Amino acid sequence: MRIDVLTLFPEYLAPLELSLIGKARREGIVDLHVHQLRDFTHDRHRTVDDTPLGGGAGMVMKPEPWAEAFAAVQAAGRAELGEQARPLVVFPNPAGAPFAQATAQEWSGRDWIVFACGRYEGIDERVYEHLADGGVEVALASLGDYVLNGGEVAVLAITEAIVRLVPGVVGNAESLVEESHSEGLLEYPLYTRPASWTDPDGTLREAPEILLSGDHGRIAAWRREQSLARTAQRRPDLLEASERRGDAGAVTKP
Ligand code: ADE
Repeated sequence: MRIDVLTLFPEYLAPLELSLIGKARREGIVDLHVHQLRDFTHDRHRTVDDTPLGGGAGMVMKPEPWAEAFAAVQAAGRAELGEQARPLVVFPNPAGAPFAQATAQEWSGRDWIVFACGRYEGIDERVYEHLADGGVEVALASLGDYVLNGGEVAVLAITEAIVRLVPGVVGNAESLVEESHSEGLLEYPLYTRPASWTDPDGTLREAPEILLSGDHGRIAAWRREQSLARTAQRRPDLLEASERRGDAGAVTKP
């Protein structure tokens, strides 16, 4: 999988050299390129923004550096992946579609994603039109209903969520199956040894006995109940959504 990131702050993406993602890069599973958007300007000040037409607060990102950057990144990607290759261009944006586990699943199967990190008030609307008219697949993705200073932190989160689903990145593929959101439910509670633990306040805390029973069928049923109860308590919206779809949550119905 190839990933390109266009940003004014390449250093923000440094954590992608660490841990599982860093390992996936070193192993050649993920080919990640971070580009400085200012490299696609031509004036002495390397200007990427200007005041909003029509007035208003803040600054808007100019279209020219973006268009040039997309052309260069697409050329570089095609030189590597073949002339037929087409990227998905993702703009992290609080006004985008919510990024969820299903999105991560879908995008983890892509050969090539280009992330475009906006800053300031946002990017000139004509950049999106230019890409769409050129036949480029564009997605706006939101991490949640709050505003970050730019797309970089969202790219860190989205890249981690995607790349860990690429086969070979997470050693134990089974751990991907049971985790929160993989089935539209939150994960059941986890315990490890010691099964009886006295906490620093002197309270004895026992792990649920069923987990020591060795009865894998009953353990699986207990875990599923716990997942459903937790989801009902913390995220009832997820159960309602899965009931509408007719999957995981539907089993709660008598
Ligand atoms: N950029 C700024 N805020 C954002 C958010 N909530 N999600 C994705 N990208 C963003």
